[in-house]
Amino acid sequence: LTAETYNVKRGNYSTANASDLDAFRNIVGDNNVVTEASELQGNNVDWIKTVRGQSTVLLKPKTTTEVSRILKHCNERKLAVCPQGGNTGLVGGSVPVFDEIILSTQRMNEVISVDPFSGVMVCQAGCILEKANQDLLEHDLIVPLDLGAKGSCHLGGNISTNAGGLRLLRYGSLRGSVLGVEAVLADGTVLDCLSKLRKDNTGYDIKQLMIGSEGTLGFVTAVSILCPQKPKSVNVVFLGVDKFEDLLLLLRKAKQDLGEILSAVEFVDSDCIGLVGKHLKLVNPIGEYEFYMLIETSGSNSQHDEEKLSSFVEDIITSQLAKDGTIATDFNKMQSIWKLRESVAEALTHDGYTFKYDVSLPAHVMYDMVHDTRKHLKGLYNSVVGYGHLGDGNLHLNVTCPEYNKTIASAIEPFVYEWTAKHNGSISAEHGLGFKKRNYISYTKSKESINFMMKIKQMFDPNMILNPYKTLPGNID
Ligand code: FAD
Ligand code: MLT
Ligand code: ZN
Repeated sequence: LTAETYNVKRGNYSTANASDLDAFRNIVGDNNVVTEASELQGNNVDWIKTVRGQSTVLLKPKTTTEVSRILKHCNERKLAVCPQGGNTGLVGGSVPVFDEIILSTQRMNEVISVDPFSGVMVCQAGCILEKANQDLLEHDLIVPLDLGAKGSCHLGGNISTNAGGLRLLRYGSLRGSVLGVEAVLADGTVLDCLSKLRKDNTGYDIKQLMIGSEGTLGFVTAVSILCPQKPKSVNVVFLGVDKFEDLLLLLRKAKQDLGEILSAVEFVDSDCIGLVGKHLKLVNPIGEYEFYMLIETSGSNSQHDEEKLSSFVEDIITSQLAKDGTIATDFNKMQSIWKLRESVAEALTHDGYTFKYDVSLPAHVMYDMVHDTRKHLKGLYNSVVGYGHLGDGNLHLNVTCPEYNKTIASAIEPFVYEWTAKHNGSISAEHGLGFKKRNYISYTKSKESINFMMKIKQMFDPNMILNPYKTLPGNID
């Protein structure tokens, strides 16, 4: 889909010309100014292949100074810019809408320092999450964030979306573990908030504005993250469950019985398991049930952790809260169970055009949304599935259909947003608003909050060159 489908008009920006390209080549070198259409194809299309822009320029700076010079030039010339990390975003925020210049962190991939005593890692924004995590293992540390796109997403992108993911239950949101951010503002000013301090109450915390602002307020160039110790003992259980209410009882019992070692609680429904089996040939290690729950523990004493976990599993099987289950203590088995959960997003891409929703809801109504959506759509779909971060009250509702069409689009939206607002939820728990959801912001945020967001945008980026058509509702482009 393109801007036309969404009925968006190009803002009053300049178009990059030969002298702009010369200026960029002068800053980053010839090889790092890409103008070849075939090379730009991947950068113009999002991960789920639902939105496509038409940028003709991709810039690959290596340093903060280069980013600063590029943005100063773009601001003076009123050239619009789309910041891009690993391009794994799921709301169309990471790709241009028209001909915005793509500014990529691809080459900004240096780890600057790791302090094994404080656990603070400082690195450039283009470090890939999985690679950063592997590097940290040498220091017995891990990144406090994990998600299915770890092999491609960049830490700068993670911070710009305030990504949640699979470890949030244990380590909290990036708003707590990100200690510092360095960002370049639209006019080229370098905002150095790259603190390594755990505590710093000297006035307003400007870095929080960069976290989750999806490239609309500044370009993140470096980050400082508080990283936890690598757990000495990790175990995973995969359970088959008949009813969603039982998942909630299991969640409560897991919190009570596993306490401090509980590190993840995820769920998928039976249709998700069907899809990862059908499209990716992944094998479900237990029988067939309506729901599946993945519980992970991370602790420091394997004997203690395994005893706790075995007794928990024995209890829930005896009481029939879970109908079946398997415990994984070895790395390969744990990986294959995690893969079943993490691959749902990919399996859906093979099932047709995907309408993707990511909502926060009170846990007791979470799965009602999936039932109600199925009823409401009266078979207009290939699949309607529910999965997500059960322990965080975050449901991923996805609808696939043979291809995009307006009838199904208008049957789904605003239905899902109205449903969410009616149940006091958030229309974006972790993916952000990007291009696709920005005009639905008022289902979750008050008019006053939105007005303040706009004032902040105007202060940081008066020419509106940073990621236009994203996050803020349409009427200010
Ligand atoms: P991009 O997709 O490149 O960009 C995302 C947004 O950030 C865009 O608006 C972009 O303009 C902006 N941006 C990127 N880099 C910068 C920068 N340096 N400065 C300023 N702005 C920038 N998300 C979750 O929260 N939890 C999950 O569990 C999760 N799982 C996923 C699983 C899969 C298989 C996939 C494909 C995606 C998943 N996501 C998840 C969504 C996505 O991976 C995250 O949003 C991720 O944080 C994006 O990082 P990225 O580097 O790919 O950013
Ligand atoms: C996940 O939890 O799997 C991701 O957020 C991706 C998705 O929503 O599909
Ligand atoms: Zn998720």
